[in-house]
Amino acid sequence: MKDYQIAVIPGDGTGPEVINEGKKVLDTAAKKHDFKLNYSTFDFGGERYLNTGRILDNSNIEDLKQFDAIYLGAIGHPDVKPGILEKGILLKIRFDMDQYINLRPVKLYPGVETPIKNKGPEDIDFVVVRENSAGLYKGEGGIKNERTPDEETWQIMRYNKKEIDRCLKYAFEYTQNERKQRPWKGLSKEDIDKGLTGKLTLVHKMNVLTNCGDQWFKEFTEMSKQYPQIKADYNHVDACTMWFIKNPEWYDVVVTENMFGDIITDEAAIIQGGMGIAAGGNLNPGGVSMFEPMGGSAPKYTNQNVINPLAAIEAGRMMLNHLGEKEAASEIEKAVSNFLERKIIKGLSVKEIQESGFSTSKIGDWIANYIAK
Ligand code: IPM
Ligand code: MN
Repeated sequence: MKDYQIAVIPGDGTGPEVINEGKKVLDTAAKKHDFKLNYSTFDFGGERYLNTGRILDNSNIEDLKQFDAIYLGAIGHPDVKPGILEKGILLKIRFDMDQYINLRPVKLYPGVETPIKNKGPEDIDFVVVRENSAGLYKGEGGIKNERTPDEETWQIMRYNKKEIDRCLKYAFEYTQNERKQRPWKGLSKEDIDKGLTGKLTLVHKMNVLTNCGDQWFKEFTEMSKQYPQIKADYNHVDACTMWFIKNPEWYDVVVTENMFGDIITDEAAIIQGGMGIAAGGNLNPGGVSMFEPMGGSAPKYTNQNVINPLAAIEAGRMMLNHLGEKEAASEIEKAVSNFLERKIIKGLSVKEIQESGFSTSKIGDWIANYIAK
């Protein structure tokens, strides 16, 4: 029987609760499909930092490199100054393990409400490929004349060709090979007759960021020649935020640099129903990848069994998909989709879950039972 070694970082706040439900669902799917997940739990997070002063050191990174994947709950503690845990844990793992892709599927499941009027599941189904290791996030910058009227600060958006190319390559390959609906329904008949199967949109701001933007655009245009079946498109990031709302059906796969990706994926998460459902993967295609729900640690709801575990379950589904357990992953997708479509819960928020008589663990049970059947 195949087995996988999974490093679990439940983290802070409600992280451990949602990870528990995720594991419940993953184990049920694994059992049915004849594989096993062996978990090793790490206590990285706010509590450990407050108790020991330690965040994450290089030996921890070496430990994490031994696993097949990492499953993360949430990082963020009300007693720790913002930035310390984010940089010391989340970003350190992303950088040191070279997880250079942040993959964010944006899919509105039937039965889930979107704030966008007159748009439904057939309109909202795209994927954002965010560069996850470079640009402004490298932290290059400085401060001059501190605490004087001439104080000045700067942060650098820096990319090299290798960083851009590997991200674009992943995005083109993903568009070509990983999307389910092919030819993509957003293509015109003319496009389909020409042999096009999907669309990849580069998002940047090359009308202003003429160095970085031009470099991304140049490499994108160059690489697109190797993918004649993919329609290569470009949006300025400001226009993209508008069109995500106005015409989400225009998007199949989107590729963008790190900071723009951070911003547009929060917008995208809301379009698909919010933090209760949005999940992402930090991928090192040749190494160890990490999967996480997009939502935070929600400290005020800790241990109340009210937070929505679906995003963590979705992160688990992405992890199985990444490990190659496609059937088990699609079974989880079916279960989640069924649960939502039947409107068993009134909505994805804490309030709506409570009003429905549901809880974190009851949702996990429902999904797991559905899969076990
Ligand atoms: C995200 C988060 C992180 C980011 C923070 C917590 C460092 O917002 O995963 O999108 O900015 O990348
Ligand atoms: Mn973010």
